[in-house]
Amino acid sequence: MKASKSKAGNPLLFRPEQHSVRLNESARRMCMPEIPAELFLDGLRKLVAIDAAWIPPQEGSALYIRPLMYATDESIGVRQSDTYKFIIMCLPVGPYYNQPVKLKADEHYVRAVVGGVGEAKTAGNYAASLLPARNARAEGYDQVMWLDAIHHKFVQEVGTMNIFFVIDGEVVTPATDGAILKGITRACAIQLLEDKGHKVVERPVTIDELVLASQNGTLQEVFGTGTAAVVSPVSLIGYKDTRIELDPDSFTIAPMIKDTINKLRTQEVEDKFHWLEEVI
Ligand SMILES: Cc1ncc(COP(=O)(O)O)c(C=O)c1O
Repeated sequence: MKASKSKAGNPLLFRPEQHSVRLNESARRMCMPEIPAELFLDGLRKLVAIDAAWIPPQEGSALYIRPLMYATDESIGVRQSDTYKFIIMCLPVGPYYNQPVKLKADEHYVRAVVGGVGEAKTAGNYAASLLPARNARAEGYDQVMWLDAIHHKFVQEVGTMNIFFVIDGEVVTPATDGAILKGITRACAIQLLEDKGHKVVERPVTIDELVLASQNGTLQEVFGTGTAAVVSPVSLIGYKDTRIELDPDSFTIAPMIKDTINKLRTQEVEDKFHWLEEVI
């Protein structure tokens, strides 16, 4: 998660309790112990208070907070560990992507399959993504847009972001199906959009539908959401020989959500959903 600075100069945590819930959901899937929410949140508050001076003041920058758990048994074997170390790392970060992103819809490699560990925030998911991401970069893309593992057709998500499309005026995002990470920024974006009167449809989205919508002019916006990237407009999706090109300068919905989340983080707009916690 990220911490910004409140107007009073104190650390501001963004939805820490949601991160605690997801950490424990991931831990359950990996046979790791759960961290009691209060223990996690209290430790987090104390750490962020100590590290408050590391919160960068620049717009779009923040203190990135990475809770991490790993096995520490002194043995080798395919079994769960009896002992674990739980740590929280903090590091100041600037904006993740400062340009619109170019995505490659990968037709060969996959990230996750229903029944697997795609919904867990576990390191193996990221390890498995390194080679396809490197290949995509060699072809001029920034990230992979993952398609489902069985049909290679349904869009899942991107590197470290969930993905949204605006098709013919309607905001659409792939429904979480067990193989997609349930992004906290995704949930915020849905809630903010609904609050502003936009209907958000969570449903399966195929790459063919996107190609068609691009060809008939109804694909208006594509953007990713995530803690690191906040909201990142997409300027290109490459799929086989097709290039879906977008003009992020014409986007209205993505900048609106980005602006709202950034302003929430700097307390320039009212926190009406109580997403922020000031550490005093
Ligand atoms: C694979 C993946 N998908 C989506 C996200 C976005 O999730 P969140 O909005 O909770 O940061 C992340 C980042 O945490 C991620 O690693």
